[in-house]
Amino acid sequence: MTSDVIQPAGIREVAVIGLGLMGSGIAEIVARSGRRVAAIEVDQGFLNQGMARMHASLDRAVSRGKLTDTAREEILARIWPTADLTAGVAGADLVIEAIPERIELKKTLFAQLDEACRTDAILATNTSSLSVTEIAGGTRYPARVAGLHFFNPAPVMKLVEVISTVLTPPEIAETLALLSRDLGKTPIGVSDRAGFIVNALLLPYLNHAIWLLETAQATREDIDKAATAGLGLPMGPLTLLDLIGLDTSLAVLERLQAQFGGTRYTPAPLLRKLCDARLLGRKSGGGFYDYQRQGTPAAAAEDHRVAPVPAEVALIRGQGGLPGELADRITTVGISVVPKPSDKTGLVIVAAGPRHRVLDAALAAGHPADVIGVHFVKAGDGRPGLAELVLPDVTAAGTAAKSAALAARIGLNAVISRDRPGFLVEALAYAQFNDAVRMFQDGYASPADIDTAMMLGCGYPRGPLQLLDEAGPANVVSVLEAMHAATGDPAYTPVPLLAEYATAGTKFRS
Ligand code: 3HC
Repeated sequence: MTSDVIQPAGIREVAVIGLGLMGSGIAEIVARSGRRVAAIEVDQGFLNQGMARMHASLDRAVSRGKLTDTAREEILARIWPTADLTAGVAGADLVIEAIPERIELKKTLFAQLDEACRTDAILATNTSSLSVTEIAGGTRYPARVAGLHFFNPAPVMKLVEVISTVLTPPEIAETLALLSRDLGKTPIGVSDRAGFIVNALLLPYLNHAIWLLETAQATREDIDKAATAGLGLPMGPLTLLDLIGLDTSLAVLERLQAQFGGTRYTPAPLLRKLCDARLLGRKSGGGFYDYQRQGTPAAAAEDHRVAPVPAEVALIRGQGGLPGELADRITTVGISVVPKPSDKTGLVIVAAGPRHRVLDAALAAGHPADVIGVHFVKAGDGRPGLAELVLPDVTAAGTAAKSAALAARIGLNAVISRDRPGFLVEALAYAQFNDAVRMFQDGYASPADIDTAMMLGCGYPRGPLQLLDEAGPANVVSVLEAMHAATGDPAYTPVPLLAEYATAGTKFRS
């Protein structure tokens, strides 16, 4: 064992064990950095699949003009695919393990590595859900074992979490951080705790999205659109679950649940059902979406466009207010707008706010069966915003389709949500902001590291704490309190530090 920091140039041979989605991506980026890679997979079929994935990824880079043919051949020449674990790790300066997330498999593997690796080799695990400390504790030299957590797709996402256990000397963590930078990534050092930074914030949010789907708050497409168009995220949560893998997501949630408890981490029953049905996401051809049958979401959108558009709409501006521009857009397409519902009114639009039920405004307006609340979400960054069309449960059956048809006719980018506090965008976002503050409050990570991790690990346009500052801590607290009051779920209680910052008018960033 060495106790010195090893410079990146000192790590020339790397063994990557397990050539699944993550392992093949990691092997590719290590080979791209000029290092020799033993790509180890004991199952010949998985080895072939992993190599095919690497070829496809490199081919894609060539076809996009990001890599030359020659460079691709040189990268591939540095990769040695093998099913022979002992031979593959024998010369490695660093081993990165990316096998399935089962502790007994990992412990057995690390015991083999004790025998087969050089004693000065560093052993890293890419585990997303298991205790790095437990994996290290089962080895002969636990000080050389650390976590190196990459994000899917590994060749694209810029973050690496470097995880130290209580036994990891700072020199090993520093060596892995320097290497990560040399691979073109940004490392963030954290201690070993369930979910580290990213998964501890991402998975409860993804789980929340499944609860929203399962409790008929909105369709899968609208839940995803709320995140992309409303929050500016690169993917909706259900699409992202399909990318990560539903089994992996379930495993991370179970570990978070075991460590922290509470409903945020209790896996939604639908997630378990899909896993039981082996609908694991993209890798199995289907999860929340079907990747073998194209076109389902587009067909659903068509249905709304062919629903009848009302000839007269009542626009009740209410306390939250509705942009005056909305009336102009409606009249421009030949629909009359009146300030109070009449016998001819086909749809009553009221201003909706995420803290208040639309139901109350609907009852006050009369015609509750024809009422829809509208809440505009500003996307920022000059992107077009999103309109949340909010349906109280007393609304008549055809009102959703009528509202969607109207939104399509006047060119509103809209989603439909049931009338629950937070609707879709704020419900998903603010609950995650609360989790992010809790992480800071616990002393686990700084606001800057939390924001950087979510931006580089998951493509957030800005980090959750910066977004929280922009939304205003006091506003976030009041929406969370409304969510808590409506559901009774203590997970939505604003964490004490958030409540303090809201009272003091303090920001988390700046
Ligand atoms: N492999 C290699 N490269 C890929 C790729 C893949 N699977 N998917 C996309 N790319 C590359 C493309 O080639 C393209 O490269 P270029 O800019 O050099 O030409 C670039 O990524 C952008 O791709 P696209 O234009 O096809 O697609 P998008 O712009 O929609 O981006 C995305 C795709 C990068 C996946 C983006 O949607 C995104 O950032 N999504 C969020 C992903 C995320 O949150 N990941 C973290 C999951 S959590 C995790 O992994 C932890 C685990 O422990 C659970």
